[in-house]
Amino acid sequence: MAEDEQHRIINSIREYLKLEQEVYGPFQVPEPAPAPQKEEAMAVSDENIWAESSESVQDAAEPLSANSLDELRAICEKSDELRTDLAGTNLVFGTGNPGADIMFIGEAPGAQEDKQGEPFVGRAGQLLNKILAAIHFNREDVYIANILKHRPPNNRDPLPEERLRSLPYLYRQIDLIDPRWIVCLGRVSAQTLLETTEPMKTLRGRFHPFRNNFELMVTFHPAALLRNPAWKRDTWEDMKMLRRSYDELTGNRDSQSGVSDAR
Ligand code: URA
Repeated sequence: MAEDEQHRIINSIREYLKLEQEVYGPFQVPEPAPAPQKEEAMAVSDENIWAESSESVQDAAEPLSANSLDELRAICEKSDELRTDLAGTNLVFGTGNPGADIMFIGEAPGAQEDKQGEPFVGRAGQLLNKILAAIHFNREDVYIANILKHRPPNNRDPLPEERLRSLPYLYRQIDLIDPRWIVCLGRVSAQTLLETTEPMKTLRGRFHPFRNNFELMVTFHPAALLRNPAWKRDTWEDMKMLRRSYDELTGNRDSQSGVSDAR
């Protein structure tokens, strides 16, 4: 490979890591793990995250016993199941309007979120606030949570087993809030909730039925937009689709709250 090309690649990796650190906080790049044996790889691959486990997700009794968000939060505070292998993290339960019509679900807390105990408060969160403002909502109108309620080490993707352990708590949280729309922010959230390995490009742009009661849609994660501003256009289309659906179903005819193409 030509030296220029090597420099270009190294510089873009540096830029990428700098942005990841700004968004998610400091992390170390771990040594590569030895390649797993075939069977081991199957045990943790996205493909079979659901194979054996949907029943235990439905049956988990403890979160189901919560009759309010406060009760659920108290259960989550005590739950070791929700922890990742990063010691000493804070619970990041969720924030916003407990009776919201729209619930946004991200991936997992980063450093800022862990420190403040609130989802999406770092750079990605600031962009999420702007996205909400573009369709005339603010954080207090909607509810915001994550698939995981604790920060993973080194800001790695949540592991399949961490996602499965968290889901009964998240499902209960969704049922207690009872939103009409769920917006998955990014691939991890979308693939986890839709129980699929389909890529973003086929998941975006439509509503998916979800657990009978909810309209679920998928859009890009704000951190991905910081890395890839070209995806903002598609995100804007997604947000207009959400706002139109909201206005149609709530009978909102106030033109101030609608969105047009002129931004
Ligand atoms: N990214 C997420 O997915 N969630 C947060 O809360 C912050 C960053």
